[in-house]
Amino acid sequence: MRSLFVLAVALIGAVPTLADGQGKGKGENNERIRTIYRDVAIIGGGASGSYSAVRLREDYNVSVVVIEKNSNLGGHVNTFIDPTTGRGFDCGVQNWIELGGARAFFERFGVEMQPNVRSTFETVSVDFTNGQRLTDYNPPAAADRTAALQRYLAVAETFLPILEPGWWTFPQPRDIPPDLLLPFRDFVAKYNLTAAVPTFHATTGFGIHDMLGHLTVWFMRSFNVNLVRVLLGTETSIVPVSRKNQDLYDRILTSLGPDALTSTTVVSTEERSSRKGVTLVVRNSITGVKTRIIAKRLLFTPIPSEANTSPLDLDREERSTLGQFDYSASYVGVVSHPSLPLNKSLVNTPISAQPANWPAAIPQYPYNTRFENYANSPYFRIIAVGDQTFTAAQARKVIEDSFDKLVEGGVVDQTSPPETLKFHLFEPHGLVSAYATREKLEGVFIQRLNGLQGRRGTWYTGASWGVHLSTSLWVFTDTVLERLVDDLKG
Ligand SMILES: Cc1cc2nc3c(=O)[nH]c(=O)nc-3n(C[C@H](O)[C@H](O)[C@H](O)COP(=O)(O)OP(=O)(O)OC[C@H]3O[C@@H](n4cnc5c(N)ncnc54)[C@H](O)[C@@H]3O)c2cc1C
Ligand SMILES: *[C@@H]1O[C@H](CO)[C@@H](O)[C@H](O)[C@H]1NC(C)=O
Ligand SMILES: *[C@@H]1O[C@H](CO)[C@@H](O)[C@H](O)[C@H]1NC(C)=O
Ligand SMILES: *[C@@H]1O[C@H](CO)[C@@H](O)[C@H](O)[C@H]1NC(C)=O
Repeated sequence: MRSLFVLAVALIGAVPTLADGQGKGKGENNERIRTIYRDVAIIGGGASGSYSAVRLREDYNVSVVVIEKNSNLGGHVNTFIDPTTGRGFDCGVQNWIELGGARAFFERFGVEMQPNVRSTFETVSVDFTNGQRLTDYNPPAAADRTAALQRYLAVAETFLPILEPGWWTFPQPRDIPPDLLLPFRDFVAKYNLTAAVPTFHATTGFGIHDMLGHLTVWFMRSFNVNLVRVLLGTETSIVPVSRKNQDLYDRILTSLGPDALTSTTVVSTEERSSRKGVTLVVRNSITGVKTRIIAKRLLFTPIPSEANTSPLDLDREERSTLGQFDYSASYVGVVSHPSLPLNKSLVNTPISAQPANWPAAIPQYPYNTRFENYANSPYFRIIAVGDQTFTAAQARKVIEDSFDKLVEGGVVDQTSPPETLKFHLFEPHGLVSAYATREKLEGVFIQRLNGLQGRRGTWYTGASWGVHLSTSLWVFTDTVLERLVDDLKG
């Protein structure tokens, strides 16, 4: 591997003597840009990128640099801090399933954890398209819901060996269990799961916009066995005692120091191969300063969308494989309005769900899922979801419109003079959950995805490759890191 490193250095010609892995070289247009050398360049500092950076540095003695688009780490973790009280309100990631080394990972950064306590607020079902309150809606009885979750769990457990961690052992197209290729609607009917549909949707199903229309395999990657066990009380989820999920990532950022380049994205790729390693030029969006990164390997962690992969000089195989994914989009935030009811969660539920048509309880996307009060506060969590064409501007409008409908329907009283909904935080996640059609799965899509691992000096982790829950992703990421480190050793 040393020899690869030398080769990579040789590529850019005039590199001065390097004392501490840094130097100045000439970029295109003769501008002088700093060059840094690392074993692994990590794109994305969300759940999987931050975790990878820490483990590679601290547990494998591998040098890293994280290239993160945002000004902070943590990705979908979004914590609003009340400017007057300092209290935190998490509107992205809510809690963490206690899996594998998850608790120890928090402890490594001194983030003390406690069991999560679920909100017991009254749920008010309102059709956000017309502001009509559902006065004749009967949610599933608790015992029926539990029985349905248990039935789901029993089936999902049989698929565990091929669904987790990641895609490594996913079968060839002809051996994919037919249940996994059923639209989730049909799977629900087959296993009599209707009593769990509102729970499926409220927990993670909203995140894949067309929950009932998607294939069961995709649903199971957002609502996995561990999550069911948490709901059934046989596993636990944890939260920081501080009630600020962002704490972990802020401490990781401090610990990474100069190994984290925030507000930074890749602008071009000068080299990316297993033989010569990876040379990227990145740019800080605030200062405009460019840096050249020469690394032995690349670890790519965000969703592999067109926008995220275009500076990476994809070849045909990469482009045609990664291009098979479609995505849903999500936008979360914290809002307030003096008329929104405290100690309640207003949940968007189509009127057609009355009196007990639970599969109809899922709105037509795009939609705002809820106005959910945070205990003892004037703040409410909103989540707007849609397909991959759903933009941030549309999401804000969907949220504002949904509030206007609550006023129109008389569910809330507008103040006089009327006040607009106040946004305290609005986090445009944009594209989130990846999925692909049945035709693609019946092609050799998954095998081709696996075939990209390690190809051209590039490894992949993140939500498109595993179950999209943070700690499940950490477990999957461990399996990628083992392979990546073996690859580094040559
Ligand atoms: C509303 C919502 C609630 C959730 N709640 C929970 C929960 O309670 N518990 C749980 O375990 N999981 C939860 N999840 C899922 C969890 O957040 C994801 O599974 C996890 O964040 C995915 O990790 P990741 O590393 O793949 O992506 P992310 O965490 O999204 O990280 C990707 C990172 O890459 C950065 N990035 C993107 N593009 C580029 C680029 N071109 N260049 C550089 N950087 C880039 C992003 O800014 C981001 O920081 C939730 C997700 C959503 C959307
Ligand atoms: C870590 O790696 C560095 C550089 O390769 C090496 O000098 C050092 O001895 C390694 N430390 C351990 C504990 O392996
Ligand atoms: C389907 O589920 C409901 C509620 O969980 C239950 O009452 C009913 O008996 C189940 N039907 C069958 C055929 O198992
Ligand atoms: C909300 O609940 C808290 C206790 O959790 C209580 O003190 C408060 O009065 C309640 N507010 C309303 C408007 O019901």
